[in-house]
Amino acid sequence: MFIKTAGRVNDLLFCRVNFLNSIAMQPLSKRTETFTDSVIRRMTRIANACGAINLSQGFPDFDPPEALTKRLSEVALTGPHQYAITFGAQNFREALSGKQFHFSGLRYDPQKEIVITCGSTEAMMASMMSVCNPGDKVVLFSPFYENYSADTILCGATPVYVPLSPVDLSFDADVLESAMAQPGVKALVLCNPANPSGKVFTHEELSIIATLAVKYDLYVITDEVYEHIIYAPHRHTYIATLPGMFERTIECSSLSKTYSITGWRLGYVLAAEPVMERIKKVHDFLTVGAAAPLMEAAVTALRFDDSYYAGLQAHYTHMKDLFTNGLRNLGLRFTEPQGAYFVLIDISEFGYGHRNVGGVRESCSDVKCAVGTLPDEQFCIDMAQKVGVAAVPGSSFFREPVDHLVRLHFAKKDETLYEALNRLENLRKLKR
Ligand SMILES: Cc1ncc(COP(=O)(O)O)c(C=O)c1O
Repeated sequence: MFIKTAGRVNDLLFCRVNFLNSIAMQPLSKRTETFTDSVIRRMTRIANACGAINLSQGFPDFDPPEALTKRLSEVALTGPHQYAITFGAQNFREALSGKQFHFSGLRYDPQKEIVITCGSTEAMMASMMSVCNPGDKVVLFSPFYENYSADTILCGATPVYVPLSPVDLSFDADVLESAMAQPGVKALVLCNPANPSGKVFTHEELSIIATLAVKYDLYVITDEVYEHIIYAPHRHTYIATLPGMFERTIECSSLSKTYSITGWRLGYVLAAEPVMERIKKVHDFLTVGAAAPLMEAAVTALRFDDSYYAGLQAHYTHMKDLFTNGLRNLGLRFTEPQGAYFVLIDISEFGYGHRNVGGVRESCSDVKCAVGTLPDEQFCIDMAQKVGVAAVPGSSFFREPVDHLVRLHFAKKDETLYEALNRLENLRKLKR
C-alpha cells in the first residue's frame, strides 16, 4: 500500500532513483546531452520560490482583450472541441492571411502558405527541421533568444554566431558575410524586434541581410513575435517584403505577445508554397495541431481593426516609459528598447566580478537546481532573494563571454512595475 506521508514518499522516491541509477541502460541522446534547462523558465521557478516579482520570463500580468475572453467563454459551450484540421482552422488561416496582408502587403494563400502551430516556439522548430540536415549550419545573431541554439542542435545542425555590438547593437556586415558564406550554412535566424536586446532591424540592415541571403542561397527563418510592439520612431519591416525574399523567408510569429495570450500557445508559419508543403508535414508529425477552441476564439482578435494595434503600442510605450524612467531615476545603466519589452541592465558596478566557474554556489533554499556559477546568475539569485525582483542572467543570451548584464521585462500592470521599482531601490545593497 502507498502510505502518503511526506517522509514515506521521499523514501520511496529515493529508493526508486537509486534503483534506476543501478540499472545499466543505454545512454540517452547525444544531441541533447549538453542541454541545461531553460534559464528563463528556471528564473520563473526561483521567483515563485522566493516570492519575487517575476520580471524574468516575459509574459503580461494584465488581461487579454475582453472581446477575446468573452468569445472564448462562448466557444467553451459551442465548441469546436475536437481536432481542427492539422494546418489550422480554415477561418483562422483566412483571418490571419487578411491581417498579414493589411500589415505587410504580402498575400499568403490560406490553403497553401500558412500553417498554425503551438506558438512561435513550435513554428521555429518545425521550420528548422524542415530546412536543416544534420551537419548543416545556422547563423544566429548574438545575443539571441535561448531557444534558437537548442532548436539548431535538435536538428543536428551547428549554430554560427554573429555578434551585435554591445554599444549600439549594430552588426559588422563583413563578419556577417563571412558567417553566411561558410560551407554548410543553410539558414539565418532573424529575431525582429529582438529579444533580449530590444533591437529593431532597420530597412538598411535588413537589405544587407537579404542581399547576402540571396547571394549565398540561404533561408531566413524569422521570429517576429514582437512585430506589433515597437517604440516610435522605429518601424517594423517584414524582411519577406524585400526583393528576392518572399521565396526564401520562413516567417514565424504568434498571437502570444500581440494579444497577451502566451498561455493559448497559438503561433504560425508563413512561407511560399514549396517550403510550406514540407513545414506542414513536419508540423503534422510534431503536434498534429493547435488547440481548436482557442483558434476559434482567437479569430476575433485577428479581425481587430487598427485601433487595437494603436492601443497596444500606446500601452507598451506607457509601460516602457514608466519602467525606464524609474530605472533612470535609480541611476541604473540599461539598454533603451526599440521594440519588444526588455531592458538589459548593466550590473558592472555591483562588484560581482567576472566568470568564476569554481566559485561559491548559493541557491534559493527550495530550488535545488537553481544554482549559479556565473556572476550574473549569482546576481539574479541574490536579487530574487534579497531584493524581491527576478531577472534573467544576460549570459544565457550571449555566445560571447558577457556576464555583466541582466534582463528585466516590463509587460506588467502599473502597480506591479511601481512595486518592482520600489524594491529595486534596495538593489545597491547587493554591492560587494
Ligand atoms: C523571441 C521570442 N520568440 C518566441 C517566444 C515564444 O513565443 P510563443 O509563445 O509564441 O511560443 C518568445 C517568448 O518569450 C520570444 O521572446
